[in-house]
Amino acid sequence: MGRLQRVYDWLDARFDLDDAQTFLGKAFPAEDSFLLGEVALFCFLVLVLTGVFLGFFFEPSTSDVEYEGSVAQYQGQELPEAFVSVLNITYDVPFGMLLRRMHHWAAHLFVASIGLHMLRVFFQGAYRNPREPNWLVGSGLAGLAMFAAYTGYALPFDEFASTAVGIGYNVAKSVPVVGETLAYVVFGGEFPSSATIPRLYFLHVLVLPLAIAALIAVHMFILVRQKHTEAERGGDVEGRERVAADDDSVVVGLPAFPNQAAVSAVVFFLTLATLSLLAGFLPVHNVAEYGPNDPASTPDLIMPDWFLMWGYGFLKLIPSWMSFDLFGVHVSSEFVGGLVLPGLVFAGVFLWPFVDYEEEPTHFAASPLARPWQTAVGVAAVVFIMLASIAGMDVIVADVLGTSTAALKPYFIGLLAVGPVLAGGITYAALTGLGDDDEPPPSAADGGSPPPDRDQPKPGERGGDAP
Ligand code: HEM
Repeated sequence: MGRLQRVYDWLDARFDLDDAQTFLGKAFPAEDSFLLGEVALFCFLVLVLTGVFLGFFFEPSTSDVEYEGSVAQYQGQELPEAFVSVLNITYDVPFGMLLRRMHHWAAHLFVASIGLHMLRVFFQGAYRNPREPNWLVGSGLAGLAMFAAYTGYALPFDEFASTAVGIGYNVAKSVPVVGETLAYVVFGGEFPSSATIPRLYFLHVLVLPLAIAALIAVHMFILVRQKHTEAERGGDVEGRERVAADDDSVVVGLPAFPNQAAVSAVVFFLTLATLSLLAGFLPVHNVAEYGPNDPASTPDLIMPDWFLMWGYGFLKLIPSWMSFDLFGVHVSSEFVGGLVLPGLVFAGVFLWPFVDYEEEPTHFAASPLARPWQTAVGVAAVVFIMLASIAGMDVIVADVLGTSTAALKPYFIGLLAVGPVLAGGITYAALTGLGDDDEPPPSAADGGSPPPDRDQPKPGERGGDAP
């Protein structure tokens, strides 16, 4: 008996690998857009690994210490320890600059890939019965990912980032009745104070990554139990056995191992390569240039990260008459713009699978072209978020157009009210005018999706054990 076989038998006796082999042979519907979720997964892995490295050198403290690193302009100055440690990571720790940049770009790609993955799930109707629970878990992940990035943005305690993070503090404090408590829980009290950075650090390196990891585990568990949706089949599939085009009790795709595992490995290395390339060539948040946090000054331009810009847009556009008293409780425009409106957007996202509700389980992904009203709502939502984000950058827009932000405000409000309706209406008209309702939706045969049998077709029972 070979040595490898003996190792296998030893492990098999303990972990029942034969059973795992059956599991690994399960069919995995193959579609390139399904890989976006994997990109998000791998970004999270890179974030954890690079974050552990940064954790060895970052100091979560705002106490002043003397700077003795290689940035000449700060030599010998008393500066907040968090700021000093990020300068050290960037300029003095071996590989520090590369890994800090990789962490930064992985955070951006994480949020971007989550957004694109969510759009893919939305436009293909992959959230429908029985996958609503995974849509809910995914929406939670999207919120947590943005919050995790936000808490990380604050950590270097530089002038630009801490001013931008201060907007969140004001919004938290504006919540009626519980605002003070909320600001204390998230920011450790007054912002910025000596408690702020330790509190945000605790959330950033422990609470949020653990919560994200737990939700990813639930997301993957549900995915494995329910299996992927599958692209519409062009016709009957000839594999180890014949599977009818409309038979959704059987999944057609690649075996999870080794075929899909090999594809995932390629996606992993491509993600890593992209992040390394970005980190190698594109600098990130230049703390040396911004300088340490200075409560006495405000930078000319304050901006959150791009994925929070839509919420910032609401804050900019909310009219001041939205501040009022209700039954003796003060409701501020900051609360309405910074929390109520974004909260409504999130509520809409969470509730969507119950708006577009399907009584019967659906295991095939749909073509967006075959779902006019749902696609129209999706397009309107994307336009809405993009316009709100542009409104968040009103200072730059005003600068480019040579006008003032006050002059732009009514136009932005008008655009935000009309733009999405117009975009949704045009989409709906185009899709309903395009085709005959009796025609089947575009499928692999029409070039809508790649053919399901692009490799060895491998039917597997949906929800069963056998591949
Ligand atoms: C940390 C964030 C996330 C990770 C790591 C993640 C990962 C994944 C992966 C690897 C898959 C299988 C491959 C694929 O369909 O792309 C998947 C499927 C799915 N995800 Fe996510 N996801 C995340 C966030 C989200 C979000 C924000 C939503 C929606 C709000 C969502 C909803 C779904 C649904 C419904 C499926 C099943 C799709 C199908 O069967 O076709 N996920 N996710």
